[in-house]
Amino acid sequence: MRKHRTIIEPFKIKVVEPLTILSHEERASILKEVGYNLFLVPAAAVTFDFLTDSGTTAMSANQWAAMMVADESYAGSRSFAKFEKVVQGLTGYDFVIPTHQGRAAERLLFEAVLKPGMKVPSNNHFDTTRANIEHLNAEAVDLVIADGRDPSSNYPFKGNVDLARLDEFCAAERAHIPFGMITITNNTGGGQPVSLENLRGASDIYRRHDIPFIVDACRFAENAFLIKLREPAHSERTVRDIAHEIFSLADGCMMSAKKDGLVNIGGFIALRDRTWVDSLRSLLILTEGFPTYGGLAARDLEALAVGLEEVLDERYLEYRVAMTRYMAEGLNKAGIPTVQPPGAHAVYIDVKRFLPHIPSHEFPGQSLVCELFIREGVRSCEIGSAMFGRFSPSSGGATSFIPAQMELVRLAFPRRVYTQSHFDYILEGMEEIVADKNSMRGMRLTYDPPFLRHFTARFEPVD
Ligand code: F0G
Repeated sequence: MRKHRTIIEPFKIKVVEPLTILSHEERASILKEVGYNLFLVPAAAVTFDFLTDSGTTAMSANQWAAMMVADESYAGSRSFAKFEKVVQGLTGYDFVIPTHQGRAAERLLFEAVLKPGMKVPSNNHFDTTRANIEHLNAEAVDLVIADGRDPSSNYPFKGNVDLARLDEFCAAERAHIPFGMITITNNTGGGQPVSLENLRGASDIYRRHDIPFIVDACRFAENAFLIKLREPAHSERTVRDIAHEIFSLADGCMMSAKKDGLVNIGGFIALRDRTWVDSLRSLLILTEGFPTYGGLAARDLEALAVGLEEVLDERYLEYRVAMTRYMAEGLNKAGIPTVQPPGAHAVYIDVKRFLPHIPSHEFPGQSLVCELFIREGVRSCEIGSAMFGRFSPSSGGATSFIPAQMELVRLAFPRRVYTQSHFDYILEGMEEIVADKNSMRGMRLTYDPPFLRHFTARFEPVD
């Protein structure tokens, strides 16, 4: 069959929603009103919502159909049995604990297992994972490889954990490590995949030190597909088979199903061994719900059972990765540098290189997300000093600013929602942004909340 240049969406559209397109002036006035925080902009004012790929999936006809046959019984629901079987088949883990989303899984597992002073290594912890660990006065330790912190490196698996450092860390801190983690794909580090070789290496290290290994698996299918594409030894394997091996290397997983579960809400913990299961189920009953629904409606479990199968469709994954690469290459051609190589769920703009005239303490990424909104109606997310920068007291009572390692802006793509022509329209508008970039100014904080700043902070442009 002829290989086409055009990427087609491997689905037909059955339900549509109109796109809002406001004027630049309308968008600028909304932004001012909400303190230049894109999380506080009403979705009705956004044309292209790339704030997150989480919970923003378009569901399939089969998922909607499954929801209609859901069994909403409080206990022992038929829908739970269906969901449990799919997760067991996918992961090989016997014990499946549903939660309403990823951070609920994190909170439960950490509350059941973590004590103050304990340490949890990973490649990079996602921000809610880190916050939930720190909330219990434990420490989240990031051990990603050096390439993972270099936006211009083209290394194909920049999500890899540094195995030598992991081994050293486990040897030195064994008594304080209740479990180790790896996040696939590595969202915080630019949506980069972890190779199977690296996962095997990490698994070996954790086993040697007798440390349970938990995968943060929310983008497991995208990671498995990138292994198939980029790790020659596995190019002939199916994504399902690669995913099976990933789970077989670990002792359990936590999953925000709002990503590769192809649903709008949902999550779970799955474990090979029963040790933590009883305390997890007790905590689940206390705060989420009975173990056969865990804070979800049975119809959500039905949609998830179907989504976890659909996401392994390799034509879908091929299109997903191709669309993300298309946007990254389009931005690069227009003169906007992005983290290389592009991953699957998002494109990350390297703002340090794009706006070198705005210093970190003036939040260059926050300026760019505002500009993208005003000019293009695009909602994106700053992952830089506005999210991670810290003020710390220095000598003489003054405070100094410790910037984030990278200044990134993430365009995260909802699954099965936007088409190639949407991307072309956005790329056309980028040319103007590039031409005018030197007129962009920095921002200053006018409200700085105590936790997870980016959700509720307020800013104003620097004069
Ligand atoms: N782990 C990773 C790697 C994530 O990316 C997320 C969420 C979570 C855990 C928490 O899951 O949102 O269901 O509670 N990431 C979203 C994002 C919010 O936009 O990247 P949740």
